[in-house]
Amino acid sequence: MRTARDTQVYVRAVENVEDAVVATDRQGHIVLFNPAAQSFFCVSERQSLGRHFLDLFSSQASLLTLIPMALEGGRSVSNHENIFLQRGPSPPLPVSVSVSPIFTDTGKAEGVVMILRDLSRVRDLEEAVRRADRLSMLGTLAAGLAHEIKNPLGGIKGAAQLLELELAGQTGLKEYTRVMLREVERVDGIIEELMDLARPRPPQWSQVNLAKVLGDIILFQKEAHREKQIDFLLVLDPSIPPLPGDENLLTRLFLNLIKNAAEAIDRQGRVVITTKVASEFHLNTPGKRPMPLIVVEIRDSGRGIPSEELEKIFTPFYTTKGRGSGLGLATCQKIVGEHQGFLKVESVAGEGTLVAVSLPLLR
Ligand SMILES: Nc1ncnc2c1ncn2[C@@H]1O[C@H](COP(=O)(O)OP(=O)(O)OP(=O)(O)O)[C@@H](O)[C@H]1O
Ligand SMILES: [Mg+2]
Repeated sequence: MRTARDTQVYVRAVENVEDAVVATDRQGHIVLFNPAAQSFFCVSERQSLGRHFLDLFSSQASLLTLIPMALEGGRSVSNHENIFLQRGPSPPLPVSVSVSPIFTDTGKAEGVVMILRDLSRVRDLEEAVRRADRLSMLGTLAAGLAHEIKNPLGGIKGAAQLLELELAGQTGLKEYTRVMLREVERVDGIIEELMDLARPRPPQWSQVNLAKVLGDIILFQKEAHREKQIDFLLVLDPSIPPLPGDENLLTRLFLNLIKNAAEAIDRQGRVVITTKVASEFHLNTPGKRPMPLIVVEIRDSGRGIPSEELEKIFTPFYTTKGRGSGLGLATCQKIVGEHQGFLKVESVAGEGTLVAVSLPLLR
């Protein structure tokens, strides 16, 4: 027999576990709906208890098939792939589901218990890995191409310089050679940037003061965008220690992101940069102690990114700007990867964008 204390432990465990736990009686009425379930489904305990699962989960087709299988078949069933909970205005939540029959002490089936686990973090990580793979392939291709372009470009530049000498005195025509040289320089700059993206350069590790790096970038960006009214706000978590990393690379990373944020604002808006420790999440590497993650969020009130364009923004050369190279985010992706972190972008067209950089406190 279980004591009252045992029961209390059971109740606390179910109430505090991060997985959603839902139980039904034999007829399929909900008898347990823990706090995680309430947040997964955006439904309160009061709205759920006593309701029939067919009614409560009417918009969740996959649950409607899994629950009866356990309820009628008396067997455990689970599905770890591609179940998305539909939750009204909130975005669908990717979950894994397992449903098991509940048996009494005498072996009689008295209902089912369903456990759902939030897979959104896992899916984010998978997407980050896929993106990095795509990028490294593209990077190699582009670096090869860049190499091929650099030589003829040198030829064009040399010829333009000679032409300029020949045209000494003819100021009207010299304007053309100046344009040629300027544009050649621009192409050269893009190619350099591209080759940088693919060049394996070992990071120079040091202890980076994140607050200072971010503060300097903001000063610089304020100046660069002074024709607009942008409020830059820096919200720092004072408990963050110096971050092991390459200061030059991290500066480029945050400069690219903050520059994008400022460029997304037409005339007036806000860019809020927040640093914090993600206490609920650690990076685990086999054989090492779990590493805490530092999260830097860059949130802007700019024009946002339409959802169909969101997956293209990391592709090298994808740009919607007249003078953009489209290499900014590809470079960011690479730098974050070199620091064993990951990048996440959320955006609503017309409202703004949130870029979150998670970096482990490597030891
Ligand atoms: N904060 C943002 N808000 C809105 N759109 C963004 C934001 N960040 C990136 N984008 C979109 O993603 C595209 C690619 O960004 P990326 O930084 O790679 O290149 P770019 O900014 O166009 O050029 P560059 O960085 O070389 O100046 C941008 O052109 C823009 O359409
Ligand atoms: Mg950019």
